[in-house]
Amino acid sequence: MCSEHSPSQPIRFLFFNYNSQKMEKINLAEKLSLFKEQWNPKVVGELNGQLVKVAKFKGPFVWHHHDDEDELFYVVKGRFDMEFPDKTVTIREGEFIIVPRGVEHRPNAQEECEVMLFEPASTLNTGNVENERTLHRLESI
Ligand code: NI
Repeated sequence: MCSEHSPSQPIRFLFFNYNSQKMEKINLAEKLSLFKEQWNPKVVGELNGQLVKVAKFKGPFVWHHHDDEDELFYVVKGRFDMEFPDKTVTIREGEFIIVPRGVEHRPNAQEECEVMLFEPASTLNTGNVENERTLHRLESI
């Protein structure tokens, strides 16, 4: 509370950009139960030009990098390997990894893995690679 606020001065609410939709909590498991597709991230939130996405991984993705974006992968359920040219890091439930821009990487999940991603809105799922797995438009759920 603002204890030094004088009652004689009106409280001014400036730029109070209220959007009730955005004041709702998001349950990741619930969002992940809404779809079955693998390697098809869905948008579940947006802030500061970044998107929060959820996705299901299974099997190897494609080797790629992102010239301008760092990517965060947080494992909600299961585990997956983040493969780099010189090492592989296993990310387990409750853990996350940040892949810096410019670094070649390939997510690879032996069993289906549920993931939350956090990255700039400009991030393309296959980065510098364009192939049948490239998604230019993502669904919001
Ligand atoms: Ni990537």
